[in-house]
Amino acid sequence: MKIQIINGPNLNLLGQREPDIYGQRTFDTYVEELRRTFPDVTIDCFQSNCEGALIDKIHEAGFACDGIVLNAGAYTHTSIALLDAVKAVKAPVVEVHISNVHCREPFRRQSMIAPACRGVICGFGLDSYRLAIEALAKP
Ligand code: DQA
Repeated sequence: MKIQIINGPNLNLLGQREPDIYGQRTFDTYVEELRRTFPDVTIDCFQSNCEGALIDKIHEAGFACDGIVLNAGAYTHTSIALLDAVKAVKAPVVEVHISNVHCREPFRRQSMIAPACRGVICGFGLDSYRLAIEALAKP
């Protein structure tokens, strides 16, 4: 099984960025742990701060892998283009967030992409990614 993780804007700064909200851990060290947790799953990671690059990656991975774990960062709340990209591809997409977006600013409560996703997981810190992979890996 092949899973593509796609991280959007500012998520390259995990470990440094607002650690009280997003934690102190870098994504690279977390992914090593994820790969140990799912030895039978090939986990690829991609991060970009650019909306177009995220769309290109969804197009590519969406026909080449078995599932996408997408943390679109702030584009979650604004991007109809990402919604259309998720709708356009074959692979199921799980929307994830590290923080619980429902107990933060009101503008974070709306997701443009959730209607096209298989499901949404938020609020469990980096563990949100593990839970998403578990959901996608279930037969
Ligand atoms: C986030 C939540 C978004 O509202 C925010 O813009 C992010 C990170 C999260 O993982 O909690 O960049 O997607």
